[in-house]
Amino acid sequence: MRALENPFKPTAGGEPPLLIGRAKVIRNFEKGLDNGVGAPGRIMLVTGARGTGKTVILTVFGDKARARHWDVIEETASEGLCERLVGELRNADGLLDRLSIKPSLSFAGASISLGEAELSPKRMPDTLRKAMAERLIALDKKHAGLLITIDETQAADRADLIALATAVQHQIRARRNIAIVFAGLPQMLSDLFNDEVITFLRRAKTNVLADIPIGDVRSAFATTFRESGMTISDSQLDQAAEATAGYPYMIQLVGYAIWDAADMRMSSTVTDQDVRDGIAEARTDLDNAVCIPELNGLSRNDRAYLEAMAAYDGPVATAAVAERMGKSDNYAANYRKRLLDAYVIRETERGEVDFAVPFLREYLRAHSAA
Ligand SMILES: Nc1ncnc2c1ncn2[C@@H]1O[C@H](COP(=O)(O)OP(=O)(O)OP(=O)(O)O)[C@@H](O)[C@H]1O
Ligand SMILES: [Mg+2]
Repeated sequence: MRALENPFKPTAGGEPPLLIGRAKVIRNFEKGLDNGVGAPGRIMLVTGARGTGKTVILTVFGDKARARHWDVIEETASEGLCERLVGELRNADGLLDRLSIKPSLSFAGASISLGEAELSPKRMPDTLRKAMAERLIALDKKHAGLLITIDETQAADRADLIALATAVQHQIRARRNIAIVFAGLPQMLSDLFNDEVITFLRRAKTNVLADIPIGDVRSAFATTFRESGMTISDSQLDQAAEATAGYPYMIQLVGYAIWDAADMRMSSTVTDQDVRDGIAEARTDLDNAVCIPELNGLSRNDRAYLEAMAAYDGPVATAAVAERMGKSDNYAANYRKRLLDAYVIRETERGEVDFAVPFLREYLRAHSAA
């Protein structure tokens, strides 16, 4: 019997029923929880391009911690991060937010609640540190710990990150049960952690969510299709796996679209046509969800730089891009920096540039103005 529900879930951040190639990073995280205060896995940095599964892995980490009866606070870096964290730290088990029952103080005629003073930028590091300590002391009585996950760390405010890192460092020094994971685009490392104050984070292990090996994609496809009652041939599996290029988001899109194509015919046998149609549809969906939004925020000159890059099959030196654009090296370097900052391109170890967003090269080739 064919299962009624498509087993693939191409939803951003959604926990996929199928999580391929991440066993090691998950095990490292679990070891951190189980090996006690001071274990390396208790402070983790997770980076990867768009759609590589950072949000999903944070969700899995949260589940692993909850299974050990830890409390979990899941946050996304944006303005007011520390304020929100203080709120969440104090709101354990639906306790009244203590801020709201604090008396008001008067300053030079103006009335300001103690709560607001506590949350002023100047006092925030101290407030956060205390809120964290109180929560951890309370949890310790239940022999439980606290996991904090921060998503989109590249967008964090520097002051927030310093306050957070400092607060966590104090808890670890006091031998309290805390774990923290920062996930974000790779530039978070250079932007935020190259800072004297945050040296302690620099020592944390960085886990780069790389592309999944095609062989692993293939066997996961085989299991998932067959377990859902779909018959799929070996050569169809090869084709489907190849089409993903190991890019996690594309894995869900391709799997979903092929499964759906067979399902539309009310069939439980995948045909070669289903595979072709599914791959084509997945490519269109990927263009719409990743490539087009990525290009929308860019200027015409940014795009000209990318189109010049797309003429090459792999990483390319900026001088070659400039030459192809018919511009000076300085001119090209300017756009190179803008695109690096936006993480549309990345710098390789040899100082060349390559696309950071998978399939963008193919998209540009297919849709270039020239
Ligand atoms: N290891 C994996 N195996 C299979 N599919 C995965 C894996 N990791 C993520 N996915 C799928 O890829 C898609 C993108 O995942 P997710 O939203 O977590 O990426 P992200 O890195 O957070 O992206 P962004 O930078 O845009 O926030 C989701 O549909 C998810 O189900
Ligand atoms: Mg995400």
